[in-house]
Amino acid sequence: MKLLIIGNGGREHAIAWKVAQSPLVEIVYCAPGNGGTHVEDKCKNIKIYTTDELLDFAKKEEIDLTIVGPEANLVVGIVDAFKAEGLKIFGPAKGAARLEGSKSYSKDFMKKYGVRTAAYEVFEEIETAIGYLKTCEFPIVIKADGLAAGKGVVISQSFAEAENTLKEFMVVDIFQGSGKKVVIEEFLDGVEASILSITDGKVIIPFLSSKDHKCIFDGDLGPNTGGMGAVAPNPYCNEEVLKVFNDEILTATLRGIQEENMDYCGIIFFGIMITKKGTYLLEYNVRMGDPETQVVLPLMENDFVELILAAIDGKLSETKVTFKARNACCVVGASMGYPAPYPTGLPITIGEVSGKVFIAGGEIKGEEIVTSGGRVLTTVALGETLQEAIDKAYKDLKHVHFEGMYFRKDIGKIKELP
Ligand code: AMP
Ligand code: GLY
Repeated sequence: MKLLIIGNGGREHAIAWKVAQSPLVEIVYCAPGNGGTHVEDKCKNIKIYTTDELLDFAKKEEIDLTIVGPEANLVVGIVDAFKAEGLKIFGPAKGAARLEGSKSYSKDFMKKYGVRTAAYEVFEEIETAIGYLKTCEFPIVIKADGLAAGKGVVISQSFAEAENTLKEFMVVDIFQGSGKKVVIEEFLDGVEASILSITDGKVIIPFLSSKDHKCIFDGDLGPNTGGMGAVAPNPYCNEEVLKVFNDEILTATLRGIQEENMDYCGIIFFGIMITKKGTYLLEYNVRMGDPETQVVLPLMENDFVELILAAIDGKLSETKVTFKARNACCVVGASMGYPAPYPTGLPITIGEVSGKVFIAGGEIKGEEIVTSGGRVLTTVALGETLQEAIDKAYKDLKHVHFEGMYFRKDIGKIKELP
């Protein structure tokens, strides 16, 4: 088979690495890919970006299966465009991708189908939003309705902070339209879990749970990033949490997908918050998580291509998804300054490692690989215990280098539920 993977992050490197292991696969085109997919077995980078370019390429090369990494492509309807041409593609159609593309849509969906989530209100007028703030307790969570490159959620500690955030979103319009409408939401204190899952619209099969570490600094301090490291399984996802997730979140979501007649064959990623008063759904993502994918796929026993094909054929109910009974940890090496502006173009060296190095923000320049993003790379390791996986990933990180590499030192560390 000829595959096409859309995207250029660590997630896409991990997907490319995993699908390349399938005996069904002859070549994996990565559009545009990165410095990691450039050297990955069976993979070839191709510099195309728009839906039209990707569609032309898929037709011309007779691509057998396209896998979409980022939400942005899904939200603009790449799946609809490929399907209209009879091409096989894995991901939700544009209508279903609103579960991630619009926070108000997804919160209304959760409410309609009884998915347990934080209380919220939606506003399109700044005056009414500020009026509502006056009735709120703090901290409070303000979310831009549309996609905002992972920066559209702000936790405000006071009225003044929240008012300022609303002005930036709704008046200054820092997200070019995406923040004109906002969701104001109850703050939930707890620990988060990511549950990537696969659906064919008839069933949803959850993968192994994982845990991202979103804040830039140790101890979960400082601004949010795309994710500074992850572990799988998530140590907080005990049987009780998973049962609540299944009974009160997954099942209701599936009913909603069916009743709304969504064209949804792809990944559905549940971002949940485990608190002392129960487990809540924070958000849906309609694609795989990054860095979560980098710890979940190395533990997956299935041939990922076979699994995706089963979903596309509507046969997930006959399929079992299994994971190694081990632990995985990945630690991100980020550019100095990230998530604020950072330098790029710095040479990356990768020495001998025991696990795997996935490239997130690194590109080929001449003969070398240089930094090109905030999150540059991750070292991923497996262990019999969580601690063993953590120790190995950190040991491997000592063997990769670029100037100013920053990383968190506490990935995988377990703290008490607040
Ligand atoms: P979202 O895109 O909705 O997942 O929000 C991004 C991040 O903001 C989440 O992963 C949480 O860390 C945080 N967050 C979102 N909603 C809430 C909430 N209601 N309470 C506390 N933290 C939240
Ligand atoms: N790591 C969180 C996300 O991919 O949205």
